[in-house]
Amino acid sequence: MDTTIHELTQYVGQIVTIKGWLYNRTDKGKLVFMQVRDGTGICQAVVFKRDVDEATFETALRLPQESSLIVTGDVRADPRAPGVPGGYEIGVKSLQVVQRAEEYPITPKEHGVEFLMDNRHLWIRSTKQWALLRVRATVMRAIRGWLDSNGYVEMSTPILTPSAAEGTTNLFEVGYFDDKAYLAQTGQLYNEANIFAFGKVYCFGPTFRAEKSKTRRHLTEFWMVEPEIAFCDLDQLLEIEEQMVSHIVQTVLAENQNELKVLGRDPAKLAHIAPPFPRITYDDAVAKLKALQAQTADPEQKQLLDITWGMDFGAPHETALTQLYDKPVFVTGFPSAVKAFYMEPYPDRPEVCKSADLLAPEGYGEIIGGSERISDPDLLLKRIHDQGLPEQAYQWYIELRKFGSVPHSGFGLGVERTVTWICGTEHIREAIPFPRTIYRLYP
Ligand code: 4AD
Ligand code: MG
Repeated sequence: MDTTIHELTQYVGQIVTIKGWLYNRTDKGKLVFMQVRDGTGICQAVVFKRDVDEATFETALRLPQESSLIVTGDVRADPRAPGVPGGYEIGVKSLQVVQRAEEYPITPKEHGVEFLMDNRHLWIRSTKQWALLRVRATVMRAIRGWLDSNGYVEMSTPILTPSAAEGTTNLFEVGYFDDKAYLAQTGQLYNEANIFAFGKVYCFGPTFRAEKSKTRRHLTEFWMVEPEIAFCDLDQLLEIEEQMVSHIVQTVLAENQNELKVLGRDPAKLAHIAPPFPRITYDDAVAKLKALQAQTADPEQKQLLDITWGMDFGAPHETALTQLYDKPVFVTGFPSAVKAFYMEPYPDRPEVCKSADLLAPEGYGEIIGGSERISDPDLLLKRIHDQGLPEQAYQWYIELRKFGSVPHSGFGLGVERTVTWICGTEHIREAIPFPRTIYRLYP
């Protein structure tokens, strides 16, 4: 019976065939212990000299790491058996080598990050990377599942665009015949057109930002889901966000216990993630940061937490704020001057806008940026001028406000930042199969 390691539980006492790769191997006298992985998990396949012919035993004894193989044997339940999920092993009866690997460069010993990144095409096979990328796939599926079952229509928005939406300093410019174009920083502006046809929409795809900073939170190519909703104000938007994020976390908890175990991620850190999430204003946040700064004795930390009203948050500010809560926290009402041109100002206090960032706990920081959008075409035009953007490129966008304009809101959630937080891992570069950063375009 052909099966997968994930399904071994169903075949105890039966003969099965597994197709995969040799992850690791040890031997002891008449026994060779092979750790075999097949994409769905890892299991121990034990070759006992007495059970196989001489040639098979010799092959097993010398098989190099990452050789591809097909093993057939009987499934035994043994709580001590290592692996993922573990607890089951195969008593090998026959072994077919599909290809003998040659000197695989990533051995079970420690390697430096640059070496591993240069070998990313191989590194993705390692257990931690495997677990992270499986969680990533669950996160993406949970996002789509939640949006699709809540009436959102998926729209594809262009990747080649004529203008900026999230600031002009991090645009990737590409030649476009005799003209130039930019890789999309967001699909939002197009989704603002799409809501007038479909009500509730989302786009989900890669986005590009020429981020010159080298931080553990920034990629130059990352995946973002962007829901946009007609007849929706900021308060309603936050309810949508907290429901979707909770659904993502609960889906990972339900489906990826093995992966979380591999990652050493305590599920108790995630189990309580459910609505409502705390909400604080930017004004409150600045006051809290000032209080934290006053309390700290460490001069370096004092410096990092420095803030005056009107400044955007840096990573240290976000980190400090999230440590005050055990759930993601919304920060609303940022200064209009530090946010994108399209965010609706508060009518009684136009220096702040109806914006919200969602900061993930445990120091992870921003995973969502969202806002209510400007409805008034004249104000929108003024904001475009104020930010020095070319009016002509936004004509279609301004025109949306003239034909049945409504209050509307939307947000963007970064997939890799969300995966980094849920997995409790250090650096965003491991949350995408082939990361792109300022210093890396290979492999
Ligand atoms: O806050 P941002 O820039 O918002 C927008 O792009 C809006 N147009 C979204 C919308 O309202 N439709 O980006 C949204 C999210 C961030 O919160 C973060 O999770 C992620 O995208 N993000 C990045 N992730 C990895 N690397 C980067 N360089 C990122 N920049 C933003
Ligand atoms: Mg943002």
